[in-house]
Amino acid sequence: MRALVFGGSGQIGAALLPRLRDSGWEVVAVSREARGDAPGLRWLRGDLARCEGLPAAVDAIFSCGPLDHFARWYQDPPVQAPRVVAFGSTSVSVKQDSADRDERDLAARLAGAEQALFATAAAHGAQATVLRPTLVYGAGRDQTIARMARFAARRGWLPIPSGATGLRQPVHVDDLAAAAMAVLDVPATQGRAYALPGGETLPFRTMVARTLAALPGKPRLVELPSPVFAMLAAGARLAGRGTGLGRSAIARLREDLVFDAGPARADFDYAPRAFQPRREG
Ligand SMILES: NC(=O)c1ccc[n+]([C@@H]2O[C@H](COP(=O)([O-])OP(=O)(O)OC[C@H]3O[C@@H](n4cnc5c(N)ncnc54)[C@H](OP(=O)(O)O)[C@@H]3O)[C@@H](O)[C@H]2O)c1
Repeated sequence: MRALVFGGSGQIGAALLPRLRDSGWEVVAVSREARGDAPGLRWLRGDLARCEGLPAAVDAIFSCGPLDHFARWYQDPPVQAPRVVAFGSTSVSVKQDSADRDERDLAARLAGAEQALFATAAAHGAQATVLRPTLVYGAGRDQTIARMARFAARRGWLPIPSGATGLRQPVHVDDLAAAAMAVLDVPATQGRAYALPGGETLPFRTMVARTLAALPGKPRLVELPSPVFAMLAAGARLAGRGTGLGRSAIARLREDLVFDAGPARADFDYAPRAFQPRREG
């Protein structure tokens, strides 16, 4: 079996590549950087606008990078494949009514990309599945848990706003990679999008506390009054360090972002692990 993988160097993609290879797949992966081949893995240098040397046909295409770019590439696919599995995001619903215009734009782009993907797949007689992870962790380079862990490890403490008790479902990259392979041979998953939450639902504050408890020296969690935290975040943004800490994002820390794993469990036995942060987040 042959696979073409976009975003194979990313958090989820890096977990997917060894799974594919261990299962005997021949993988061609595309990256904007030059990367070294390995048995069962050939890297092509390029991106979703331009890439030379793509195979004419594969058994499956996996997209582990930006869904809107992939959907655009796939509109006129230079590679034939009967099966397409693409990662989107639960942001498609979480951010659709955000007060922040950029967040609303992102949700609209994701929704448009999903629709385009399904339409193109249908037009080419292919079957597509979209997987929408919640908050991803486990590769040590996500923008939430790993980032907080790095900050806390450096400073010995981490501030969060008081009342940050909205529920979260952090999902491990390996569970997502397993899901991407599990859907392949399940007809029920064709033409469908699935939320992929983690195996535990916990308040944001508890998620952070558990992350810090896994770090050497157990950095302190410091709860600041919301306006004070918002001021610090605004200062960090001005200094170019506070990306993702906008007002809408801070307000959302009080909101529950909970998704139903039921459809994924029913269709492809999705069984993600409970939240187990390691040292690196
Ligand atoms: N991280 C999360 O919390 C989260 C949550 C929900 C959904 N998702 C979705 O899940 C998918 C994978 O997420 P991830 O966190 O594993 O991604 P990631 O670590 O950011 O990596 C994505 C990979 O895609 C490639 N890429 C990025 N921008 C690109 C561009 N403009 N053109 C072409 N290639 C590009 C990069 O590969 P090269 O540099 O090698 O080219 C990168 O390594 C994405 O669709 C993401 O939106 C992520």
